[in-house]
Amino acid sequence: MIKFGIMGAGNIANKFCEAAKGIGVNLYAVASRDIEKAEAFKNRNGIEKAYGSYTSMLEDPLVDCVYIATPHGLHYEHMMLALEHGKHILCEKAFTLNEKQAKVVLDKAHTKDCFVMEALWTRFLPTIRDVQALVLDGIIGDVIKVEANFGFKASKDDDSRLFAPHLGGGALLDIGIYPLTFADLFLGTPQKIESTVVYYHTGVDLSSEITLSYPNATARLKFSFDHNLPIEGFIRGTNGYIHMPMFIGAEHALIYNQNGTLIKEIKHPHDVNGMEYEILEMIKCIANGRKESYIMPHEKTLSLLNQMDQLRKQWNLIYPQEK
Ligand SMILES: NC(=O)c1ccc[n+]([C@@H]2O[C@H](COP(=O)([O-])OP(=O)(O)OC[C@H]3O[C@@H](n4cnc5c(N)ncnc54)[C@H](OP(=O)(O)O)[C@@H]3O)[C@@H](O)[C@H]2O)c1
Repeated sequence: MIKFGIMGAGNIANKFCEAAKGIGVNLYAVASRDIEKAEAFKNRNGIEKAYGSYTSMLEDPLVDCVYIATPHGLHYEHMMLALEHGKHILCEKAFTLNEKQAKVVLDKAHTKDCFVMEALWTRFLPTIRDVQALVLDGIIGDVIKVEANFGFKASKDDDSRLFAPHLGGGALLDIGIYPLTFADLFLGTPQKIESTVVYYHTGVDLSSEITLSYPNATARLKFSFDHNLPIEGFIRGTNGYIHMPMFIGAEHALIYNQNGTLIKEIKHPHDVNGMEYEILEMIKCIANGRKESYIMPHEKTLSLLNQMDQLRKQWNLIYPQEK
């Protein structure tokens, strides 16, 4: 059975363990910059080994693949380190700070013959995949509009990964990536991107409204670290529309015809917490000798980063690593 190592014993790494344990995955090791933190994480999550540095875990030949759960600004460095040690990778979103970094990582993965996938959990959810198939089948006709919002009031700690520029802070890379993903799932890559932004005093983005234009459709997306926005998505077509409450971890979709009558519901409650589907996909790909997933292909990771690069260019938001 594939043995996982976890890099970074933070918030989402705990949820990853819950999902992995729920589907019987071998959580072999955890690495933290602090050995006591690693030991506590290990004991709490029933992991076999704890390491006090990322490199020492990567030097363990029994680790087959790593789950990288560090801040965005460190993903590039941590993936390059893992690849140097020949490990397969599941890396949290946003994959890297920009498309350029991602291309270097993917080239290195190719050279090292390693599997790499961005852990954009939304894409792997059964509800999302069913809705994608139904939309392709024309259940709401041609898609003409997508709307998606994600906002909450984050506690303002300038040093936290949410607001620190060197950690890849800002709402775009952390939560904006979800509305962008939702638009991508149903409309693909936009021809034109327009946006407005509000900055935080550390220089990162706090709130944005985005319009994506396609030949016969538009997407309107909003995200914010400054105010609550209902986390929901709508896909509007020529013959009806679909409402997805909590689209980021979708368990439910409601499909209406053009008269507003509910015609179908999709319900897939998570088996564990929703992260299990990306883990299962990674395991399946590795077992089949694949280096990339069809559900979250490298091309999608690059396309989303390219869109986020375009947005940051409009905002003149440059991370310290890019100067
Ligand atoms: N899929 C989802 O639903 C979801 C939800 C939340 C977050 N995420 C993603 O998961 C990643 C981590 O987010 P998180 O909320 O888990 O963050 P977090 O709680 O701050 O954990 C990040 C971990 O990174 C490690 N780290 C290494 N160098 C660091 C540095 N210089 N400063 C701060 N931390 C450093 C730390 O672990 P050690 O101290 O143990 O080394 C820290 O605990 C991000 O990419 C984020 O976008 C995904």
